[in-house]
Amino acid sequence: MTQDDLKRAVSAAALDDIDNLLTPDAVIGVGTGSTANHFIDLLAARRHDFRGAVASSDATEARLKSHGIDVLELNHVGTVPVYVDGADEIDARLRMIKGGGAALTREKIVAACAERFICIADASKRVEILGGFPLPIEVIPMARSYVAREMVKLGITPVYRDGVLTDNGNRILDGYDRLFDDPEAMEAALDAIVGVVTNGLFARRPADVLLLGTGGGVERMT
Ligand code: 5RP
Repeated sequence: MTQDDLKRAVSAAALDDIDNLLTPDAVIGVGTGSTANHFIDLLAARRHDFRGAVASSDATEARLKSHGIDVLELNHVGTVPVYVDGADEIDARLRMIKGGGAALTREKIVAACAERFICIADASKRVEILGGFPLPIEVIPMARSYVAREMVKLGITPVYRDGVLTDNGNRILDGYDRLFDDPEAMEAALDAIVGVVTNGLFARRPADVLLLGTGGGVERMT
């Protein structure tokens, strides 16, 4: 099985998992990335069974609309019963690093408004300790150098993601060389730096369910 096959398999499993939530009034939260794209493509076949979706990025909004799925503004929806998204890394307690696709801020907002967060990922994303994948941090452009210096004080090596502007008009610093044995504390410490919009540690609000694609099938963890 290729990595792409695994992404499609976990997306199909997610669709099964939310079957009872696809009702005429339901608005579903949808994530960003190659795994989420598979989910969107499968969700399209069910577009007449639910009201619409809240998108976590401009790219996801465009893909949902291309399938004829209504995209609603989160402010008009309030909470969503479920949010389905991928991850760059996920640990045994379903804490994640996200933001490889620079969509972390809207992803964290939709996740905060979700009653249930289902993470869909291929087996390569499962780790013992978060931090092998560089930690994305969205920053206000004028604060870029300041935030980078503060990251160094926390033992993180910052690298500017050149040429990338987020959907919110901000910049991304990727943090290297630091494993996160206490991701909740680091998430809070990074959020406390002036100029940080969002950091890619999703520890204080982890996923509720992980659907992990492995060679032996899809494993469901809670
Ligand atoms: C985008 C994200 C994605 O969920 C993450 O990068 C995983 O992407 P993919 O499914 O393509 O591996 O956080 O900001």
